[in-house]
Amino acid sequence: MGLQILALAGAGIIGALFARLLMSWAVIYYKKTFKYSREHGCELPPKYPQNERFIGYQIIGEGTKAAAEKRVLEMSMGRYDTTGHTYTVAAMGSTIFLTRDPENIKTVLATNFKDFGLGQRIYAFGPLLGHGIFTSDGAHWEHSRALIRPNFNKAHLANFESAETHFQHLVAKVPTDGSTVDLQPLFFNMTLDSATEFLFGQSIDSQLAAEGSESEKFSHAFDYAQVRVQHRNRVGRLASLIPDPEFKAACETVHAFADRYVAKTLKNRDQEKSSLVDMEKVGEKKRYVFLDEVAKETSDPKQLCDEMLNILLAGRDTTAGLLGNVFHCLARHPKVWKKLMAEVDELEGKIPNYETLRDMKYLKFVLNEALRLYPGIPTNARIALKDTILPRGGGPTGTAPVFVPKDSLVVYSTYSMHRRRDIYGDNADEFIPERWAADAPTGPLRPGWGYLPFNGGPRICVGQQYALTEASYTIVRLLQTYGSIENRDGEPWVEGYGLTLCSGNGAKVALKLR
Ligand code: HEM
Ligand SMILES: *[C@@H]1O[C@H](CO)[C@@H](O)[C@H](O)[C@H]1NC(C)=O
Repeated sequence: MGLQILALAGAGIIGALFARLLMSWAVIYYKKTFKYSREHGCELPPKYPQNERFIGYQIIGEGTKAAAEKRVLEMSMGRYDTTGHTYTVAAMGSTIFLTRDPENIKTVLATNFKDFGLGQRIYAFGPLLGHGIFTSDGAHWEHSRALIRPNFNKAHLANFESAETHFQHLVAKVPTDGSTVDLQPLFFNMTLDSATEFLFGQSIDSQLAAEGSESEKFSHAFDYAQVRVQHRNRVGRLASLIPDPEFKAACETVHAFADRYVAKTLKNRDQEKSSLVDMEKVGEKKRYVFLDEVAKETSDPKQLCDEMLNILLAGRDTTAGLLGNVFHCLARHPKVWKKLMAEVDELEGKIPNYETLRDMKYLKFVLNEALRLYPGIPTNARIALKDTILPRGGGPTGTAPVFVPKDSLVVYSTYSMHRRRDIYGDNADEFIPERWAADAPTGPLRPGWGYLPFNGGPRICVGQQYALTEASYTIVRLLQTYGSIENRDGEPWVEGYGLTLCSGNGAKVALKLR
């Protein structure tokens, strides 16, 4: 009994402390907001209804349940629908701002770019990726970006010979007897193979790998490390305190692979420099290798390794996820398949090149639409580096600016924005590639910042053209190879939401050779 009273008293004291903390925090918050309200006309955005507004138990509980049911994106969209396009939640003692308002997203990513940073990303990704374009901020990021970006130009992207090789390896895995195949895991291996060839000059060839081979080890280590990174992403800064030997081992396997190519590249580069033979002059056409180009600008092996892995991570799953989602949709929309087939047949069986792909309008609509419904990075976040404002979402009508104190997390959801009915119409949830046509019955779509699969502003995806070219090439070649597709999955789409988004049930189909 006495103990119980003591415990109750203890709980009471802690409760009182929490209440005081909450009060002082609230006072500071409102004072600041009040000052800003004067200066910028800021008003408070709506609050997501929570019965407790400090730890955010309810948010955590709802999130955990939704994750188990593969409904995180649906849940998050429901909150925007009921609370507002911009709103706040209280969690872990602070206020988190959430938005699917194109104006606010534009402000975070472009207009007030310098007011925001990546926040905790480096803690989660650091052991796998080090400091590279995808993980760093400020001057370090600017340097990485300047190093990486020039290498993504048209000439380098159009290596269709490599694309064809890896595509053929995929075809070899597709059954021809009409039995069911899940295309999505095949796409994941294909994009790993093409991305490693593009970056390192030699493919990991996971599609050919024998059990127990080096390739297989790398491929598993890279996948496993990403699963752990996703977990670390949730834990935040604490991640580095928790020992995780399996994660460490996976990172080491991945680094050993990249280091080997970096060492070879630097050695070759120095030999070429000292040799009198100019490759170009003897008429030998040198193959483009991303790593070779970057190694012309820096000799730091650690930086080279980090940058290559940053790009591999950013580019591989996203492109595979897009392809998986496209075929998930094609299998369920025979009319779209037929129309796309007609466009593919205009090539009269010729293997596509950069120009022919560029001219395929309907293919572009199909890709646009898959990326609208299933954006590869469906939610993302930035941290305010100073007191700043979002231009909209405050006050009863949601039109007043919103004050965002330094260190606040601003979460934005392209997934939820891409399904706004006021931007895309009442059929926003449906897969309708035709909506992208200039002569669409509902008028031409001009979503501007309301459509953002590749991000916008200074950190816009550097691999956009590469991804669209690879996806287009693969789709066209698949349709040239297989005349019909059959849906072999009775289920509707569910999210496969890890670091990036793919179809949770994959893309189970039967394909028939032409
Ligand atoms: C359909 C495929 C793809 C999608 C949907 C996609 C989407 C995105 C998005 C949304 C970002 C912004 C992330 C952020 O700032 O928080 C991004 C950044 C990036 N993407 Fe992509 N991406 C795709 C393919 C690729 C490919 C194929 C590559 C490279 C080969 C690539 C390389 C990068 C890099 C290096 C960044 C970081 C840029 C920076 O921070 O300056 N992406 N991508
Ligand atoms: C993808 O590649 C890995 C590594 O080589 C292999 O273990 C796996 O079976 C492949 N997946 C498919 C669906 O072929």
